Amino acid sequence: MTRFSFLDVGFTYRALQNEMDAAYRGIMDSGYFIGGRALDAFEADYAAWCGARHCIGVGNGLEALVLPLRARGIGPGDEVIVPANTFIATWLAVAQTGATLVPVDADPATMNIDLAALERAITPRTKAIMPVHLYGAPVPMAGLRALADDRGIFLLEDAAQAHGAQDGGRRAGALGHAAGFSFYPGKNLGAFGDGGAVMTDDDDLADAVRMLANYGARVKYEHESRGGNSRLDPLQAAFLSVKLRHLDAWNERRREIAVVYDAALADLPGLRLPVVAAGTNPVWHLYVVRHPRRDALRAALEQTGVPAALHYPIANHHSGAFRGEFGHLSLPVTEEICSTCLSLPIGPHLSVADAQEIALRVSQAVRAL
Ligand SMILES: Cc1ncc(COP(=O)(O)O)c(C=O)c1O
Repeated sequence: MTRFSFLDVGFTYRALQNEMDAAYRGIMDSGYFIGGRALDAFEADYAAWCGARHCIGVGNGLEALVLPLRARGIGPGDEVIVPANTFIATWLAVAQTGATLVPVDADPATMNIDLAALERAITPRTKAIMPVHLYGAPVPMAGLRALADDRGIFLLEDAAQAHGAQDGGRRAGALGHAAGFSFYPGKNLGAFGDGGAVMTDDDDLADAVRMLANYGARVKYEHESRGGNSRLDPLQAAFLSVKLRHLDAWNERRREIAVVYDAALADLPGLRLPVVAAGTNPVWHLYVVRHPRRDALRAALEQTGVPAALHYPIANHHSGAFRGEFGHLSLPVTEEICSTCLSLPIGPHLSVADAQEIALRVSQAVRAL
């Protein structure tokens, strides 16, 4: 019986070995290991692909969120609204600035931030809202953008899982005032190491992010503020440029797999399938189902060669990092997702036939529970 992989980060290298090796040799021959043309080219190409004016390569996805918050002067005394159901990096980015986190529970259907609850959470101290396009499924952004513009609130997309995801025909990264991307290897657009990018149409914000990421200097040795060091290596940028040319096809494969799962797994007892918000087109970074006997289902799938994963098993407000401050909160939808979620294998390493076989094994396992 075939054993499937949940994720295969080596697949993209094997699929594109000649192009990748040429990219590697190009960087070695260039002698540029920080900055340079390969980085400039990737930044320009990825900004154009997302439909935004500026892309600034940074060290990782966490810093791609911290830097724009800092560039907008967000810090102690300010409130930042975040979804409760997200990877912890969203929360850590806010915590690093010293601003106050305001967690909002998830929408029970989409598992993304509950938009009505978000609006109720806004106060005069709200300085930023960070919608997360979790699992590659965009949060509907038009209403949020209008609200944020109207009230002078900074709208920062956490697009770490959403390379190419669309809302109203526009891509993630061009939907808010700025966005943070991660190029962690397992992402839809992943490097062969750490990497991230800030995306924005705002010239001043782009300039401030570049300055903060470069020791607080616009001009060498003129350090106007206490910045840090956060750079995307040109070697990773060269690999990412190769991958970017294939990203549409890889995202399309993810969509095909999601279509197979949606059809084959509908109406199984106790199994809830992901629901996509109207007007959005996700890129299925993850395909997350829910089942009340999640652990038993996961164990049964493991036996049949279908590894499944949890995104995420512990809610941020219950994590060691945050329970001291937020452990008293009741965020029932997020808590329910944490105890019932199960991510099925999805990605360009799987064929449509693989997805059909996986769906068959999932439906048999659910019926046998
Ligand atoms: C939603 C979300 N935000 C932020 C990050 C942080 O990205 P990185 O791991 O590149 O720092 C990740 C991924 O790890 C993520 O999934």
